[in-house]
Amino acid sequence: MKRITVGLLGFGTVGQGTADILRQNCDVITQRTGVEIVVKKALVKCLSEVNPLPVGIEVVTDPSSLIDDPDIDIIVEVMGGYEPARTYSLLALQAGKHVVTANKACVAKHYRELLEAAQLHGVDYLFEASVAGGIPIIKALKESLAGNRIETVQGIINGTANYILTQMTQNSISFYEALAQAQQLGYAEADPTFDIEGIDAAHKIFILALLCWGVELNFDDLYTEGISSISPVDIELAQELGNTIKLLAIAEPEADGRIDIRVHPTMIPSTYPLAAVDGVFNAVYLEADALGPAMFYGRGAGKMPTGSAVVADIIDLARDMACGVAGKRIAPFSFATLRPAQIVPIDEIHSSFYVRFTVKDTVGVMREISRILADNDISVASAIQKGRSNDSTASVPFVVITHEASGLQINKSIREIENLGITTAPTVMIRVEE
Ligand code: HSE
Repeated sequence: MKRITVGLLGFGTVGQGTADILRQNCDVITQRTGVEIVVKKALVKCLSEVNPLPVGIEVVTDPSSLIDDPDIDIIVEVMGGYEPARTYSLLALQAGKHVVTANKACVAKHYRELLEAAQLHGVDYLFEASVAGGIPIIKALKESLAGNRIETVQGIINGTANYILTQMTQNSISFYEALAQAQQLGYAEADPTFDIEGIDAAHKIFILALLCWGVELNFDDLYTEGISSISPVDIELAQELGNTIKLLAIAEPEADGRIDIRVHPTMIPSTYPLAAVDGVFNAVYLEADALGPAMFYGRGAGKMPTGSAVVADIIDLARDMACGVAGKRIAPFSFATLRPAQIVPIDEIHSSFYVRFTVKDTVGVMREISRILADNDISVASAIQKGRSNDSTASVPFVVITHEASGLQINKSIREIENLGITTAPTVMIRVEE
């Protein structure tokens, strides 16, 4: 039986998950592919970090020992981060090896260089695991929905942030307690800033936009806002309003060729399907012209779910290698038709807004806030004041829900209200999707 050999660049959570699945499910994998797939070597930073040593896998610290090993057919890059992941992947492609990755940061930043290198050397660069962990969204866009125009994509695509918001909502625990739990469970990136500040979700929606519309965007123009400023009072008020707060990644083409693409906490009606996506689960909701609406749901992070997506790419390659077409099939897009596109500036995006001011509980505060909102042509849908203090120097949350307005109008109003000196803490603003 044909034997296909894998080398793992990285042996952390996802690397170990990949090795475990290939070992535990070797019977079904062989039955489905007609080949035997084995992990030969794994690259680690330091040998002492691997305890116990994996059975049957040689653990090494020198990347060239994998990349230059003529026995290794497929390199799996699960190191994370931009470098040295990019350099090692390029070296592997140049050495004629197929590369499979779970590294969304590297794909988002270096996709062109890496895919061009793969094309030049007649090999594949596959990245199913880079978006939404175990959910097969890349394959869905690349293959199953390839005949559709995609009209909109909205995703909960960071498991850590979703886990934190869910824990805060369901168990009334603090942001930091929930973050510590997510880290213990292996969901968070090595640097959790990427998860909680929305950067990880931005990498993923950037990749989805590339596949959906063949657009080359400037990643630095993508508006990214995280969840670290969300407090339990916002979660409580959202619930009172029949809403749920989620970190949403949104992408949609505009009629003028620009792309509306952004990541930010969003209040959505609790009856909306994405509101029911809890914990580490991810979901991608999309609307396609032929298919209509569709939602892809599953585990978006963790050892085995992400390993599952890595193994799926390895299996695709194994099948192609078995019949001699590896590197020759199902490109994610045609390079010749990729087009540069502008991102719609966030200030131009219109929606309703939830704005929480922290104000001194004194006469006239509400009138001043209403006046400035009206001066900026913002219509108020409702207002809520929480708590009532006998002490006129104490602070209370005062929340306004607006009708549709632009980010520019809201930010200008917040600045003007804060300049009045009636707020005692930074104002929190959350976009509301109806
Ligand atoms: N840290 C990522 C998340 C892992 O929480 O979703 C999967 O990309």
